[in-house]
Amino acid sequence: MVHCQCMRNNTDLYTTIAQLMQSGKGILAADESDATAGKRLAIANLPNQTGNRQDFREILFTAPGIEEYLSGVILYDSTLRESTDAGIPFADVLVARGIVPGIKVDLGTNPIPEFEGEMVTQGLDNLDTRLKEYYALGARFAKWRGVITIGENIPTNEALELNAVRMAEYALIAQANGIVPMVEPEVLFPGTHSIGIAEEVTTRTLNILFSTLKKYRVDLKGLILKSSMVLAGDAYKDQSTTDEVATATLRTFKLSVPREVGGIVFLSGGQTPKRATENLQAIASYGKQAWPLTFSYSRAIQEPVLVTWQGKPENISTAQKVLLHRVKMNGMAQMGTYDSAQDMKEKK
Ligand code: 13P
Repeated sequence: MVHCQCMRNNTDLYTTIAQLMQSGKGILAADESDATAGKRLAIANLPNQTGNRQDFREILFTAPGIEEYLSGVILYDSTLRESTDAGIPFADVLVARGIVPGIKVDLGTNPIPEFEGEMVTQGLDNLDTRLKEYYALGARFAKWRGVITIGENIPTNEALELNAVRMAEYALIAQANGIVPMVEPEVLFPGTHSIGIAEEVTTRTLNILFSTLKKYRVDLKGLILKSSMVLAGDAYKDQSTTDEVATATLRTFKLSVPREVGGIVFLSGGQTPKRATENLQAIASYGKQAWPLTFSYSRAIQEPVLVTWQGKPENISTAQKVLLHRVKMNGMAQMGTYDSAQDMKEKK
């Protein structure tokens, strides 16, 4: 890998990060693969067809007012190539609204032989070529997701290291193409683990990740971390309170995320929309941190919109209002001004 720190000028990356990490705003993840999009459409009782996927994305990206609360949207390869019914490419719709388009670039996970229950992310082949095309199509940041399962004797450090090395290589290729890498080591929420175990695993994951990124000379100032919140597994006997989530998550970051990292965004991971907002609010209530922090939710934003839409043209306007409400609540939580009572009242 040819790499020269001396010739690098990453000003464009820092500009993109400043756009993405604006106060009161966050990122919508709408980057489901075509297969995963089917799971979302099932919520609206719709079959997984191109037309339905496209219609839903158009509802999301053209909703009035969202640019006040969304700084970026993560797209999937096919979505970045799609257009509105009127023929305007989705990326152009977003850019015209001041929203930065991003792209999911990993190609999913494969099991690691001899490491039962552990996965490694694919997608380095042709990545440089793909990123050049994505840049030309308007993408300015790129997401790569690693999947970490908590179980008996897992995750192993070896699996975390393998994922970290691939993330470092992807991050370098992204930065060389003027695209901000968004590295997402997702510690899965489903499970029977306690919050203490989640904290140990997330801290270890992030320590291995950042020592690897540093070793391979990734510019941490030109990189965003997409993280899970630290919380007990969804099948654990006691569900974590908002304050437990906030203190454990911030303690983890302080022990493992270098200060120069450009920003941290959260995935929702299967939390309900309200819980994901409340946990972000609890984190923000601890005040300014070394890094700007915000949301980058998929399910916790899209679910109520799908439930409202149900594939019916007469529901589109209401579904877009539901979207606006949800991103507004998350935008307020980012600033620490979210009010649960207002959330319930305005929803009606
Ligand atoms: P969720 O918010 O549904 O966890 O999705 C975020 C994401 O980008 C998953 O890769």
